[in-house]
Amino acid sequence: MEHINLKARAKINLTLDVTGVRDDGYHELKMIMQTVELYDRVYIKKIDKPYVKLKSNLEWLPTDGKNLAYRAAEIIRKEYGINEGVFIELQKAIPVAAGLAGGSSDCAAVLYGMNILFGLKIDRKRMAEIALELGSDVPYCLMRGTALAEGRGEILTKLPPCPESWVVLAKPPVGLSTAAVYKALDKTEVTVHPDTEAAIRAIENNDLSGVADNLSNVLEKVSIEMCPMVGQLKKCFIDNGAIGALMSGSGPTVYGLFDDKDLAAEAAETIRKEFQLRDVILTKIYNV
Ligand code: C5P
Repeated sequence: MEHINLKARAKINLTLDVTGVRDDGYHELKMIMQTVELYDRVYIKKIDKPYVKLKSNLEWLPTDGKNLAYRAAEIIRKEYGINEGVFIELQKAIPVAAGLAGGSSDCAAVLYGMNILFGLKIDRKRMAEIALELGSDVPYCLMRGTALAEGRGEILTKLPPCPESWVVLAKPPVGLSTAAVYKALDKTEVTVHPDTEAAIRAIENNDLSGVADNLSNVLEKVSIEMCPMVGQLKKCFIDNGAIGALMSGSGPTVYGLFDDKDLAAEAAETIRKEFQLRDVILTKIYNV
């Protein structure tokens, strides 16, 4: 095989809880992750030059070691002694630095693609280790679907598929640094934690309104301080018919869940106009 075309999907958090801080500074997490339909296209082609070349449709996106997709290809080449190089083309549709794991998902797609392209047969355990070296969300992005993620994000338990729902993503016109959000969290006291068990029960019972009632993210408070639009978007989603709304990951993207497609499309239009946002995307829950 000489080339491969992959879809790297975005994720949203249905819940995100922080249960402690580790000695290495990382936070102990407990969160329910869910894949959505929205994807970046990742094209990987073997080249007979001994390096990785990366291109994307966003001219400002790093194309070197600062890009996780580039790093993923380099790590695999080094570990498996591959002399050939690869050309990677990213067609980004997932907003960047948005809390939607776009970079992590591109990275996971490159790991998956390199494994297939070069017939490496990397075992699951090693693949998960390499993924975690690259970033806390990358192991989940390899797995996809509905999952409980604990530890740094790498201890994954598959959950039954989340009830079908329309999802509108709205990203304020700023990016938030995950590290900065966690740092700000360390200076505040978390008083309200998600009821993760109740959210899991709702998923198991295929109860969409139960899922919506239990959407909760402990990072929201500090992210709202850094980007007040997050709070305004949540309210606007609910005022426009969403059955629940939450910030995803460390933000700043806020999503609304809808059980009706037309209502979701109308809400997307209203939010796009009211907040003058470029990144308002209608998508849906994606179950693998
Ligand atoms: O693992 P990753 O590089 O994606 O994490 C980005 C940043 O998010 C880390 O440098 C850290 O500040 C924060 N983080 C954390 N605890 C986690 C995951 C991420 O503090 N479990």
